[in-house]
Amino acid sequence: MALLEVEGLTRHFHLRRSLFDRVLGGGADHVIKAVEGVSFTLDSGEILGIAGESGCGKSTTCLMITKLLEPSAGSIRFKGADIRGLKGQTLRDYRRQVQIIFQDPYESLNPRFTVFDLVAEAPRALGLWDEAETEERVLRTLGLVGLKPEAYKDRFPHEMSGGERQRVGIASALVVEPELVIADEPLSMLDVSIRAGILDLIRDLSERLHFSCIYVSHDLSILANITQRLMIMYLGQVMELGPVRQVVTSPLHPYAAALIAAVPVPDPRVKRPVPKISGDVSQPIDPPPGCRFQARCPLVIDRCRAETPPLRELRPEQWVSCHRAE
Ligand SMILES: Nc1ncnc2c1ncn2[C@@H]1O[C@H](COP(=O)(O)OP(=O)(O)OP(=O)(O)O)[C@@H](O)[C@H]1O
Ligand SMILES: [Mg+2]
Repeated sequence: MALLEVEGLTRHFHLRRSLFDRVLGGGADHVIKAVEGVSFTLDSGEILGIAGESGCGKSTTCLMITKLLEPSAGSIRFKGADIRGLKGQTLRDYRRQVQIIFQDPYESLNPRFTVFDLVAEAPRALGLWDEAETEERVLRTLGLVGLKPEAYKDRFPHEMSGGERQRVGIASALVVEPELVIADEPLSMLDVSIRAGILDLIRDLSERLHFSCIYVSHDLSILANITQRLMIMYLGQVMELGPVRQVVTSPLHPYAAALIAAVPVPDPRVKRPVPKISGDVSQPIDPPPGCRFQARCPLVIDRCRAETPPLRELRPEQWVSCHRAE
């Protein structure tokens, strides 16, 4: 059985008309379809990557899985149980088992807490261990993420570098021994020089501590390095999902192909056919019927404007949502 099963996950945000429009009777309320019918599964021990341009619904998907945001429709099952029904102790268990690492190590840490208190916060709030065991586990976890406990435990966030702060964020997520870690662009605020270190750390820890991971990034070269499967989203929907090597070397969806072609290749002799996509990233506000990618797709036909393509398994394990893919 899969650890996580997401089915038809949907989140709409309603944008109300401005006061000005309402007074004058003009304009209309809009719906942002941030996430629409997203389905995927995650196996135990697996690292799944989610990629796609800004605003395509990656963070909204993560927030729903961590139960920080309610879905408008669809279901999320963790170890077979729908997370909608969780209450009391089962909800506390879920809050322990599923942890999120945020993008911004500057914003996600309380500036008035020491490193020790930051990492101890979740175990204390969940009432997991007595103070002696909490201390032992916090110090051990700081060591795991490469921060010497004695040198760091009494520091405040402003007394550390960005990379050190992100390590504290990782320690805070891992101290409770989660089964699923959601990393929402954990490197994008960091200097390129320290990204590789943090990336290696997450990969190494996921193997040693056996947690599953959903890793969100704009950067396909990072995802190709760390994940086993890759899911590519566009304006709230899944365009392609499959084994990372297969998706990167022979993508089926024209959007996936364009995204991959945009990644620089170190060897200038390598020439890849680049499907041209034009136009700006649209917004998922009141999207037209049919395929979300229709306005920018080089292969668009009438059918794409009328029917939303279903996600279908075109090659073993490789799923695509495109009428034209073959
Ligand atoms: N609370 C909210 N209210 C209204 N709209 C929202 C809200 N949260 C997100 N959105 C909209 O939903 C869409 C998806 O946002 P989301 O943050 O999930 O994108 P993302 O893929 O994480 O982007 P990025 O790569 O920039 O982090 C965007 O159009 C965004 O403007
Ligand atoms: Mg985001």
